[in-house]
Amino acid sequence: MRVLGSLVLALCSLAALAQEEDKDCPMCLTNQFAKCSGSTCECTLKVAENMAPIVNCSKLTSKCWMMKNEMYRKKNNIGTRRKPTEHAMLDNDGIYDPECNNEGKFHAKQCNGTDTCWCVNTAGVRRTDKGDVNIQCPELVETFWFQVQLRHKPMEKQVDQTKLKEAIKNVFAGYQVDPGYIENVEYSEEDHYIIVDLKQNRTVTSPTDLATATYYLEKDIKGNTLFSIQYNRSIQDDGIPFDGTKLSFEEAYVYYIDSKNPEFSMKGMTPGIIAVIVVVCLAVVAGLVVLFFTRRKAAKSHIYQKAEGRELDEIQKQQLTT
Ligand SMILES: *[C@@H]1O[C@H](CO)[C@@H](O)[C@H](O)[C@H]1NC(C)=O
Ligand SMILES: *[C@@H]1O[C@H](CO)[C@@H](O)[C@H](O)[C@H]1NC(C)=O
Ligand SMILES: *[C@@H]1O[C@H](CO)[C@@H](O)[C@H](O)[C@H]1NC(C)=O
Repeated sequence: MRVLGSLVLALCSLAALAQEEDKDCPMCLTNQFAKCSGSTCECTLKVAENMAPIVNCSKLTSKCWMMKNEMYRKKNNIGTRRKPTEHAMLDNDGIYDPECNNEGKFHAKQCNGTDTCWCVNTAGVRRTDKGDVNIQCPELVETFWFQVQLRHKPMEKQVDQTKLKEAIKNVFAGYQVDPGYIENVEYSEEDHYIIVDLKQNRTVTSPTDLATATYYLEKDIKGNTLFSIQYNRSIQDDGIPFDGTKLSFEEAYVYYIDSKNPEFSMKGMTPGIIAVIVVVCLAVVAGLVVLFFTRRKAAKSHIYQKAEGRELDEIQKQQLTT
């Protein structure tokens, strides 16, 4: 009996020790949903019932894994999804349960666990019509150009454009985007839009791919950060420090432009279009979106855009005639 007692005691203290060890593991700064444990403090991200890839917390976790984790949390009602902000309306846009390879890259064909499948680009964005399980996606087409359009709230004083460009570079540095990827930062004073062109650049290697970086950015702007609380985010909930004050955003759009034409069966498809543009809309209300479609110029003329999410997904496939 005594032996059993001390055995139990020993086991208990061992368990306590193990617990202690987990507590001692530092948090995964770049991924608040990752769990770190064990003597090596390895961090893993649960993405399915029996799947938890190891994540490297000095980098951002790939978009594919993050989407998969979000779907897992949704299905199981886990999570610390914050109270919807004013931006919450379009928060579910385009989310599906993706298939990722071992490196966390998207498979070209995605089915969301159903019999309806489609092809995606390297950013995981649909670039074909939806079809059945037999749909062929022979290759994963590269999204080589991301255009981020941010609209800031009115400022007291005039925006200094040089400082603005510097601030934008710092924002992207916070997502581990090499400055070599930032091709252009444009500012439109009258409607407060900051337009950032990010392009793949073979001469630099960033730890984070642009799809992942823009996904993290999107989440930060929506007020649903993927970073852990301790991480010194470059976009806080109230915006970014700028010129002695704060620059906060009220709308953001991410356009994805692929190296090959998209394959939507739209009538009036013009030869020579180069891009699929998917607008991930973080805008407040649908009204704004419609305004956007009729008013904003897209990255280039003759580009199709498709709003991802909700009904817009089906109805907004239209050509811009800028
Ligand atoms: C994690 O990523 C960093 C930065 O890219 C790299 O230096 C490091 O070797 C990686 N660690 C592991 C365990 O792969
Ligand atoms: C994927 O499936 C989930 C339900 O499991 C659904 O909520 C979501 O809208 C689907 N996404 C797409 C893009 O079909
Ligand atoms: C690629 O990155 C390098 C190094 O930052 C930069 O000098 C070059 O201009 C970039 N190329 C393009 C096409 O932006």
